[in-house]
Amino acid sequence: MRSLLQTTSLALGLWGTTVGATIDVTWTDDSSVKEAAATIAYGLVKYYTGNNTGDTPGNLPDPYYWWEAGAMFGALIDYWWLTDDESYNNITQQAMIHQAGDDEDFMPTNQTRTEGNDDQGFWAMAAMSAAERNFPDPSSDEPQWLALTQAVFNEYASRWDTDHCDGGMRWQIFTFNSGYSYKNSISNGCFFNVAARLARYTGNDTYSDWAAKIWKWESDAGLITSGYKVYDGVTIGTTNCSSVDTAQWSYNAGIFLHGASVMYNLTESSTWKTRMDGMLTDITSLFVDNDVIYEHFCEENIQCNQDQQSFKGYLGRWLAATSQMAPYTYDTIYPLLLSTAKAAVAVCTGTDTDFKGHTGTACGFSWLDTTYDGLVGVGSQMNAMSMVIYTLIEQGSAPVTSSTGGTSTGDASAGNKNSDDVNKNQSKITTADRAGAAILTILVCGGVLAGTAFVFS
Ligand SMILES: *[C@@H]1O[C@H](CO)[C@@H](O)[C@H](O)[C@H]1NC(C)=O
Ligand SMILES: *[C@@H]1O[C@H](CO)[C@@H](O)[C@H](O)[C@H]1NC(C)=O
Ligand SMILES: *[C@@H]1O[C@H](CO)[C@@H](O)[C@H](O)[C@H]1NC(C)=O
Ligand SMILES: *[C@@H]1O[C@H](CO)[C@@H](O)[C@H](O)[C@H]1NC(C)=O
Ligand SMILES: *[C@@H]1O[C@H](CO)[C@@H](O)[C@H](O)[C@H]1NC(C)=O
Ligand SMILES: *[C@@H]1O[C@H](CO)[C@@H](O)[C@H](O)[C@H]1NC(C)=O
Ligand SMILES: *[C@@H]1O[C@H](CO)[C@@H](O)[C@H](O)[C@H]1NC(C)=O
Repeated sequence: MRSLLQTTSLALGLWGTTVGATIDVTWTDDSSVKEAAATIAYGLVKYYTGNNTGDTPGNLPDPYYWWEAGAMFGALIDYWWLTDDESYNNITQQAMIHQAGDDEDFMPTNQTRTEGNDDQGFWAMAAMSAAERNFPDPSSDEPQWLALTQAVFNEYASRWDTDHCDGGMRWQIFTFNSGYSYKNSISNGCFFNVAARLARYTGNDTYSDWAAKIWKWESDAGLITSGYKVYDGVTIGTTNCSSVDTAQWSYNAGIFLHGASVMYNLTESSTWKTRMDGMLTDITSLFVDNDVIYEHFCEENIQCNQDQQSFKGYLGRWLAATSQMAPYTYDTIYPLLLSTAKAAVAVCTGTDTDFKGHTGTACGFSWLDTTYDGLVGVGSQMNAMSMVIYTLIEQGSAPVTSSTGGTSTGDASAGNKNSDDVNKNQSKITTADRAGAAILTILVCGGVLAGTAFVFS
């Protein structure tokens, strides 16, 4: 913490405190890049209230959903990995252990009633990153990163539903949540992503078999097209799984790209290479404008909601990770990350009453022009931090495995502590909870982009 304060006060001295001053980065100088990342990360973590006395570790305040906190800790693990700044390691470890919950599967009782498979997945992917990066292991009486990821994997496998659409996981875990009849790419993408990474980390074929099966289902269901576009999801409904929502979100593409790159790294097969290459080509044409990554579906017309405002940051994360798993893609990916990071930093010039970081360093959301758009928040701040740190990807150590120095302890049978997972803690669902779920339904139906299930619950 002390070193961070020194860095930032030095930085403020250098840059001046004028509102609207840009963060000045020398992109060829790692220490300059890290200083910029530290400034932006400081503003990001200031949104977090879980470290305040009396507050719950792991939660972001309203209006941010629980899943986004999991995404944030995943980003902070990468922040530490690429910058060596340990300032946020303690709060990250504390949050992830706390939110692992009693069953050590990222289904804490406070969240279970509204939790979807994708929500659980963002925490699981953070745990997987912790294992792959040798992020400090919790003490032995606490849940371990690898075992936590395996717990979520096992629960996902138990939720695979062959009764509808010939397979796939539903978006929601519980019948009473809106979105239960929807099978979406992000939920199945979380499953695919952790399956591929567990396969590489452990060498256990069960995980790679699942990764192949999930990809096949996504393709058969029409959610991954022959042109490697990733559509949002399919409704079981009365149309027999023929009603595909064709909205394309950057995080859906990124999560499958990264998983495919891991499978390529593991198998060196031309099948996975073709898939990865096809997806990368689609991503660089659809989600890039003037060499800058953007959220194609909603950014230009200023329609991205709170969740959607964070998606392109994860695309950055998964592009960077892909460049490690398939080093030949680095020459395509790095220039894009660099030009995007430059555009992102150029609009970290704002002030906002909710922003408690250093004055004049709140990051705007859209990077398509040099004007600060005032759309600040966890998503915008996390996106900018991500793009900046991933320009350091070439120096990042390769993700470890259990045979190349990984220290995290696993448990292949973790998760599913209650025999009937879907009914887990159903008894705790009260009338008030059902009302809560109903409100979410209205939000989903009344959204601007009606027809797209875009609200996490
Ligand atoms: C979290 O809270 C502890 C105890 O109050 C404090 O020492 C620490 O600096 C805080 N960490 C961050 C990152 O705010
Ligand atoms: C993290 O926790 C350890 C052990 O409690 C403590 O020594 C260290 O100062 C903390 N680091 C930060 C950045 O808060
Ligand atoms: C579910 O409820 C049972 C019984 O109250 C409890 O023992 C268990 O810890 C709960 N599990 C979760 C994940 O909340
Ligand atoms: C659950 O939520 C309550 C109320 O906000 C809070 O006091 C408690 O610490 C939370 N429990 C866990 C395990 O997060
Ligand atoms: C729904 O699809 C399944 C599998 O493709 C098929 O066997 C079944 O006949 C279809 N049902 C209806 C009502 O179209
Ligand atoms: C797999 O990843 C490692 C670590 O980044 C890399 O050294 C190796 O070249 C990759 N394998 C392939 C086939 O690209
Ligand atoms: C591989 O993973 C599966 C699924 O978790 C597990 O049942 C099996 O025991 C594991 N095999 C080994 C050798 O660890």
